[in-house]
Amino acid sequence: MCGIIGFSSGGNAGYNQGNCESSIDIVLNGLKSLEYRGYDSSGVAYYDETENKIKSIKKSGKLVNLSAELSCIKPVKSNIAIGHIRWATHGKPTDVNAHPHSDCSGNIAIVHNGIIENYAVLKNKLIVKGHKFITPTDSEVIAHLIEDYMKSGAKTFYEAVRLASLDLSGAFAFLAMNADEKSICAVKYGPPLVMVNKDKEIYFASDVSPLIQYSDEVIYLKNSEIAYFKDGLLKLTDFKGKTLNKTVTKIDWDASRAVKTGFSHFMQKEIFEQPSCLLDAFSSRIVSIKNSSDSFFSGFKIMLEDVRLTKKDIDKAGRIIITACGSSYYAGLVIKYITETLCGIPVIVEYGSEFRYENFPVSKNDIFIGISQSGETADTNSALEIAKEKKAGILSITNVPGSQITTMSDKGVIYTHAGPEIGVASTKAFTTQIMCGLLLALRIKEIKDAAAVAGKNLHGVNFFDEIVNLPKKAEQILFLNDSIKEIAKKYYKNTNFLYLGRGILYPIALEGALKLKEISYIHAEGYPAGEMKHGPIALVDENMPVLFLLSNNMLAPKTISNIEEIKARGGKVIAVADYEPDIDGISDIIKIPTTVEVLSPILYTIPLQILAYHIAALKGTDIDQPRNLAKSVTVE
Ligand code: M6R
Repeated sequence: MCGIIGFSSGGNAGYNQGNCESSIDIVLNGLKSLEYRGYDSSGVAYYDETENKIKSIKKSGKLVNLSAELSCIKPVKSNIAIGHIRWATHGKPTDVNAHPHSDCSGNIAIVHNGIIENYAVLKNKLIVKGHKFITPTDSEVIAHLIEDYMKSGAKTFYEAVRLASLDLSGAFAFLAMNADEKSICAVKYGPPLVMVNKDKEIYFASDVSPLIQYSDEVIYLKNSEIAYFKDGLLKLTDFKGKTLNKTVTKIDWDASRAVKTGFSHFMQKEIFEQPSCLLDAFSSRIVSIKNSSDSFFSGFKIMLEDVRLTKKDIDKAGRIIITACGSSYYAGLVIKYITETLCGIPVIVEYGSEFRYENFPVSKNDIFIGISQSGETADTNSALEIAKEKKAGILSITNVPGSQITTMSDKGVIYTHAGPEIGVASTKAFTTQIMCGLLLALRIKEIKDAAAVAGKNLHGVNFFDEIVNLPKKAEQILFLNDSIKEIAKKYYKNTNFLYLGRGILYPIALEGALKLKEISYIHAEGYPAGEMKHGPIALVDENMPVLFLLSNNMLAPKTISNIEEIKARGGKVIAVADYEPDIDGISDIIKIPTTVEVLSPILYTIPLQILAYHIAALKGTDIDQPRNLAKSVTVE
């Protein structure tokens, strides 16, 4: 979704294309780091010191178009600039509709992420007052509104921005720069805004990825907050004008994790990072206590200090509600299965985008778990807002420190520790979410049954050994890369796919189908295998590859019957299996290592990611930034 960048050096101006990095170069580099979010046009506005005015350059399409245009301008001295990548909502992705937008005078420029829901009303009022609009976008209204407050007596640019912010409704994070004052303001109400303030310089961005090269100490703006930077000084207030103290968050993401390091795409790199990400997700969280007798698991203990749930909380709740979107929702379905199996607590999984419009009865005793890679998904967070209003407890599983979801989570946050995920398609974030969900289920079991159960094994399984061995098994699957690529070569021209799984592997069928459609644009559906004969089987013919997730458990004979049904109708069967099934006529088998059932979804996911990746690569799609998709969906 849209990405915002801003920079001001608070005095010293550099020349672009000169020896020192100017604000324009800094902003353009920042936009490159945000490209992964998904966008359709981009633009930069900069203050030209020599001519004492703001200039803008905006281009539809990829950032290279903007870069090319910027490389043609003559060297310019500039110490303030803002930039934007746009994911169109109101108005087509054209040059003129791209951000930044200006007021009538050209002294103000803004970049905006979100949706101004009352823009039409505000725009009509401003038109009556004589403002001239040049785009159909909702965002342009912000620049004119600020201008209007400047004209009607606001003493400073900050004051005009503050008053304008109070008039806006919807979701917005924006930067506004002013040529008269040579100042810059950042406003947040909904979508994320982060900044680095050091050495009389300020850097703003929609997320930390462009900032980590400057500092690992960032300031997250909270909702209804404004940052105002002028003459090298930063002031932070709320929308009422009350001065706030800055809280600095230390980011442990290392900048090198946000580069491709020899892989063709970020997605491929992120698939291959999974063994180490899984290790990071559990190491230091499970501790072997083989000689101790005071723990529920005499074999090991779960260390999730930040989870502030008590036995009373769990008993009173009697159920858990998970809310999430997209792949995170599918991780939620897996975590439901794990939690119900291990803890015997019923779990309800709800789409964030549906939950807010349902009449779901929420009680103050409820425990909610929000799952979100970005922590900024508007639909998921709005569902959690409802839970918060009803005083229910909130836990979250997220990848991004300091993100909005973390600020709502009164019962604790479990970080996935996957590092920056740049590819739009979720890979390492998804598998580490499941790992964290398993750890949480084990912790809930520990809290719930502390005094009641003691023993090394739970359900006859030594979880400590199984978890510790998982990264190695994930790595073995990565060695199948070349053979999976050969399978991709056979099927990349197909236009439809069916993915089928049962039980805990059903959500993985959904995830496999989502991965394929997201990055290859091939239509794919995930179904519970048992549902196939209730409808989807009508689609099966020799042009329909059907991918089965087959596990050597009590459901295997039933799934094998489904395979026979597909074969009988001429469909091509691909199987991902943890054993050699005794059945003829499977066109392609991807054999993976075995593990316990609750960990198996992680291993079954990896070959599906690799298959989708190779199919997309053969089709030549834009794998890291698939068309129409955004990494962080910060609007409804
Ligand atoms: O950041 P989140 O996990 O909240 O994002 C939720 C979905 O938008 C996300 O999982 C989306 O479905 C991905 N593109 C899946 O690959």
